[in-house]
Amino acid sequence: MPLNFLLMFVLLFLLVLSAFLLVRSWGWKKAMEDIPGNLGWPIVGESFSFISEFGSPAGICSFMINRQKRFGKVFKTSVLGRLMVFMTGSNAAKILLTGKDGMVSLNLFYTGQQVLGRSSLLQTNGEAHKRLRRLIGEPLSMDGLRKYFQFINNLAIETLDEWSGRTIFVLDEASTFTLKVIGNMIMSLEPKGEEQEKFRDNFKIISSCFSSLPLNIPGTAFYHGMKARKRMFEMLDSIIEKRRSGEICRQDFLDSLIIKHNKTGGGSDEEKLTDEQLKDNILTLLIAGHDTTTAALTWLIKFLGENPHVLEQLRIEHQQIQEHRKGENLSWADVNNLPYTAKVLSETLRRATILPWYSRKAAQDFEIGGYKIKKGWSVNLDVVSIHHDATVFPEPNKFDPSRFEAPLRPFSFLGFGSGPRMCPGINLAKLEISVFIHHLVCKYRWRCLEKEDDSVQPTLVRMPKNKYPIRVEAL
Ligand code: HEM
Repeated sequence: MPLNFLLMFVLLFLLVLSAFLLVRSWGWKKAMEDIPGNLGWPIVGESFSFISEFGSPAGICSFMINRQKRFGKVFKTSVLGRLMVFMTGSNAAKILLTGKDGMVSLNLFYTGQQVLGRSSLLQTNGEAHKRLRRLIGEPLSMDGLRKYFQFINNLAIETLDEWSGRTIFVLDEASTFTLKVIGNMIMSLEPKGEEQEKFRDNFKIISSCFSSLPLNIPGTAFYHGMKARKRMFEMLDSIIEKRRSGEICRQDFLDSLIIKHNKTGGGSDEEKLTDEQLKDNILTLLIAGHDTTTAALTWLIKFLGENPHVLEQLRIEHQQIQEHRKGENLSWADVNNLPYTAKVLSETLRRATILPWYSRKAAQDFEIGGYKIKKGWSVNLDVVSIHHDATVFPEPNKFDPSRFEAPLRPFSFLGFGSGPRMCPGINLAKLEISVFIHHLVCKYRWRCLEKEDDSVQPTLVRMPKNKYPIRVEAL
């Protein structure tokens, strides 16, 4: 009897929920009438087309560009049960990314929400978000990163030594390098050994489930991802325990949060984190920082390979440093004075647009570009079109770092985002990439083993589909 009652209750709940979602979706569809676009079939919307274009050589860009051609710069669609509005242009960017007065929040798919956890920086808003950013920002500032410089420098030299005389896939190698850097920075993981292997295996499973379908049943990517998340958290629990008991003390990112900000530590209550917040946000930094830096480093090496005159100019900047050092090691001051390298990185982020669209959820009704947006809608900024606007970047498909010599119009370049959600890992990413590139261009040359191809992998972060295979020789 109680079982029947429970079953009836669950059915009734599902019925009410479906009715609510249906009524809300009808209401939203009506409110969206003025916005051009096609919502596709009932329930499935344009999901099939989205999934198939996501897997095409141009990735999500082809979905966005095809619709822009038909409907203009602002269009609506419905994907995986979500009604979405896409828009582009620096005005839209300013409004959405600045998101004044809590107008919008970050919009993660269900899988992303479950993987990162509810106290992740990506799922917090307002004051809680500001506070978390403050805590995380400190160890990621230039001052905070200084102590990892030597580790990154040695690792770059060792990694490149192993490339010499071999054929390698840059994407795979860059992935290993950036994961070792962030593992060491966050919790002092040694670059080799059993702990590193376990960490890498779990991380890869978690990261590859991030954009999977939200089916948490045995055999699915999402199911394996959630299991790997549990194993990763057990590993973190054991490390945190050792740090707290004083058995191990390392002065890394984790220690700085445990000592200053953990519930059992000192400091004001305002500045304290629970273990859940600590673990969710360590995973958040790993996920947000790894694929992005890996992709940036890979695209950068690929663009250098395809543009010998840029490589030559970059090499001159780095060889001058080498000459001044007279055989001594690269120094912290050197990496902070690389003007041409900074332009090459910006041009890489513009040309590749690693994160092609930034997604927000309207937290209130507002108007943008003459269109009325309702609370709860998913509003998405197409960054690829902003980065390829020929009025700002003439010949937008050309790789030309000199574009960044003059100041740009605000919100026309968004490589690391802008506003309150601008990337907090910008200094770390620049440091890793600059150090790696220094040793690469000073000591090696390479040639690509396949013909030029800009196809991307079907992942949220755009990466070269062919992983950029090269043959490397010492100079
Ligand atoms: C070249 C490498 C990187 C690129 C291109 C990049 C790009 C971005 C962009 C565009 C955003 C804003 C997205 C939005 O507004 O929706 C962002 C946010 C973020 N990035 Fe990065 N990122 C990189 C490296 C890193 C690294 C190394 C870390 C961590 C150590 C990191 C951690 C984060 C986090 C936690 C956020 C969310 C910030 C928030 O919601 O307040 N990123 N990144």
